[in-house]
Amino acid sequence: MTIAGKTILVTGANRGIGQALVAEALSRGAERVYAGTRRSLAHPDARVTPMALDVTSAAQIQAAAGHVDTLDILINNAGLALYDDLSDREVLERHLAVNLFGTYAVTQAFLPQLARAKGAIVNNLSLMALAPLPLTPAYAVSKAAAFNLTQSLRALLAGQGVRVHAVLTGPTDTDMTKGFEIPKASPEYVARAIFDAVDNGEEDIFPDPASASVAGSWRNGAAKELERQNAALVQPPSAAA
Ligand SMILES: NC(=O)c1ccc[n+]([C@@H]2O[C@H](COP(=O)([O-])OP(=O)(O)OC[C@H]3O[C@@H](n4cnc5c(N)ncnc54)[C@H](OP(=O)(O)O)[C@@H]3O)[C@@H](O)[C@H]2O)c1
Repeated sequence: MTIAGKTILVTGANRGIGQALVAEALSRGAERVYAGTRRSLAHPDARVTPMALDVTSAAQIQAAAGHVDTLDILINNAGLALYDDLSDREVLERHLAVNLFGTYAVTQAFLPQLARAKGAIVNNLSLMALAPLPLTPAYAVSKAAAFNLTQSLRALLAGQGVRVHAVLTGPTDTDMTKGFEIPKASPEYVARAIFDAVDNGEEDIFPDPASASVAGSWRNGAAKELERQNAALVQPPSAAA
């Protein structure tokens, strides 16, 4: 799927990787980019339509879906990451509300448009979906759950021609990793790699040097093989072929 001429919605579009995804979509010739944000956003490019979209607000999600007739690619990028030690249930619930249920709710709301377009869903998850960093365990739990959601949606929506991509992003230089002194990719690099991989039809995307180092072993590993075998149980023969 090439990005030129496509209509794309990015959640969490005002900063970090979301902002870079909007810029990259425009530079690749997207026809319309819906920029979902919690605070109002002004964008100099006329192809950008700002949209009030707190992914924990059922009312805002419903209103946003009502304004969009056509959608080729939904990028669930909005995310929350807080340091914790799993001692406070409320912190876990906050992560699940944004990273799992936000992704779920936005996806469900835009599914009719995506199915009509035979489009794609791109969930910006985290390498921590595969292995937690115990400095942010609640975040890792929410990303692991969102990854599992992504895998099931991939199998369930294949028959409708909707592709579902998981982005297993590694450390990226945004507000989320401020003060964390480790090698990080730039958000622009990550955004380019995500669109390249969507273009190439890669279902699991490893968009930075840290995540790319595990891509081969993930794709050839037992867990991926099991995902394929399980998915075949719910896919019609044409999609599973
Ligand atoms: N940076 C990394 O190293 C890294 C690594 C792996 C995965 N990721 C994932 O990449 C995605 C983007 O992260 P980032 O690094 O760009 O972080 P960021 O700079 O902290 O940006 C987070 C974005 O999510 C938005 N957001 C948070 N809660 C929201 C809500 N309830 N509704 C709508 N938008 C909400 C924020 O909006 P406000 O400005 O309104 O807060 C902001 O636009 C996240 O899903 C994150 O988990 C990041």
